[in-house]
Order: sequence, then structure tokens, then C-alpha cells
Amino acid sequence: MSKILITYFSKTGNTKIIAEAIFKTVDGEKAIKPVKELLDNELEGYSLIFIGFPVYSHSIPFPVEAVLKNIPPNKKTAFFSTHGSLTGSRLAREALEYATVMTSKTKLLGTFTCRGKVSPEALEVLGKSPEHKAWVEMAASADTHPDENDLEDAASFARWIMTLAAQD
Ligand SMILES: Cc1cc2nc3c(=O)[nH]c(=O)nc-3n(C[C@H](O)[C@H](O)[C@H](O)COP(=O)(O)O)c2cc1C
Repeated sequence: MSKILITYFSKTGNTKIIAEAIFKTVDGEKAIKPVKELLDNELEGYSLIFIGFPVYSHSIPFPVEAVLKNIPPNKKTAFFSTHGSLTGSRLAREALEYATVMTSKTKLLGTFTCRGKVSPEALEVLGKSPEHKAWVEMAASADTHPDENDLEDAASFARWIMTLAAQD
């Protein structure tokens, strides 16, 4: 029996919104929970695992990194991330590329990213340092994301991953 897990880390709610859109879209036996609520060896019990995270300092938040390291080999996986940087920019891709390399023994079926508004506190702190000024200006335009289009894209991504998982 196939069982699907959607697990995520989300500090300000953007990644959680995407996780919920994916959860709503997938059919069958399914569970959704933050990574911090995962039990020891819980990942074993699922046939497909969606893992979501925000990009933090070009990388993956530590609690997610710990989960990625524990994915059993050959497990079907799909990753999604939210980020303040422009979609497709190197700054937005790096963390996902790192996640992909780190989990090379899993069967990664696909990845999805979209922008997510950056908290005013983070923008304020980063805006004070000259080397982050340009990034803060660029990231400000993420302030309407995730939006309806992002949620539709996340749902399409989830359907596509389900199709791929069924073929294997
Ligand atoms: C401490 C911190 C560091 C961040 N670093 C990056 C970064 O390196 N690149 C980027 O694109 N976005 C960065 N962001 C923006 C977040 O990735 C983005 O706002 C994300 O949608 C937050 O997700 P969440 O609401 O699920 O926590 C950072 C945000 C914070 C608070």
C-alpha cells in the first residue's frame, strides 16, 4: 500500500502554505507534518516523501538537512522550496542543488520552487549591511508570494510527481 508524506520546515509560513497545497492535491493515504514532529525511522513507512524548506543563507535549514541525511536509500522523494530571491536565480537554486547532491541515493522524482515573502525583520537586519543591500531590494518584490499562481503550480507539481511515482 502506498503512503505519502509531506513534511516541511517553515518559520514564517510560506513553505507551509505550499506544503498544504501539495497535501490537498495528492490522493490516497497521506500525512502532513513539520520535520520537527517526525518520529525516529518514520520515513521508512512511506513510499513517497515530499520535503519542503525555505532557503536560508543560500542553503538548507539545519533541521531539514538532518532529515535529508536520514532518507532511506531508493526512497521516492520530491523536494520543494521557497525563497526570497528571483525564481531561477542562482541564489534560489543553490540550496535545492545541495539537497539533490546530499540525497543522491534516493529516487528524486522532481523539484519545485517559488518565491516567498521575506519577513520584515530579516529585511531590516540584512538591509543594514552594505553587502546585502542589493539582495534586500531584489527580495522585496517577493512580498506577494506565495500567491494563487504559486499554489496552482504547486498543485501541478504534486500531480506530476504522483504520475511519475505511479510509473515506477
Ligand atoms: C534568516 C533568513 C535567511 C534567508 N536567506 C535567504 C537566501 O539565502 N536566499 C533566498 O532566496 N531567500 C532567503 N531568505 C528568504 C526565505 O527563504 C523566504 O522568505 C522563505 O519563503 C521563508 O519561508 P518560511 O515562511 O516557510 O519560513 C531568508 C530568510 C531568512 C529569515
